Amino acid sequence: MAENTLYNEKVMEYFMNPKNVGEIENPDGKGVYGSPVCGDMMMITIKVDENDVLTDVKFKTFGCGSAIASSSMATEMIIGKTVEEALAVTNKQIVEELGGLPAVKIHCSVLAEHAIKCAIYDYAQKNGKTYKGLEGFDPNADDDDEGEGEGSCGGPACGTN
Ligand code: FES
Repeated sequence: MAENTLYNEKVMEYFMNPKNVGEIENPDGKGVYGSPVCGDMMMITIKVDENDVLTDVKFKTFGCGSAIASSSMATEMIIGKTVEEALAVTNKQIVEELGGLPAVKIHCSVLAEHAIKCAIYDYAQKNGKTYKGLEGFDPNADDDDEGEGEGSCGGPACGTN
């Protein structure tokens, strides 16, 4: 029965019943990322305790079903992990946990990974912390001439807010 669809059952389950949707009030870190591929946006908010453990993570997205499934899976994967462990989670691992995504939808998982990095970057900036996995991460990197918003953390998240 799965032959009729591009998506496997696990992806469909996470798309239909996503976990951790929403926005944390007074988050310790907030990241907004726009995919340079499709222009879809994702916002991640995080709570971090004194041991650098992510106690809560929520997402909101103007993204497709794969973005919803990816971010739902990604938030589940990183809750309870330390910041450094969360930074080590790659979009490939997210796709693996989902049992695969169609090739044209891989960038949707990248959106989730980058939005998480943006939120952690925001947290690190606010608390004067540095982490392995954030070196070389430039939230304001522009991938093209469009400037802010696409291909960078954009929004108020990683900036001066
Ligand atoms: Fe834009 Fe999936 S097509 S996030």
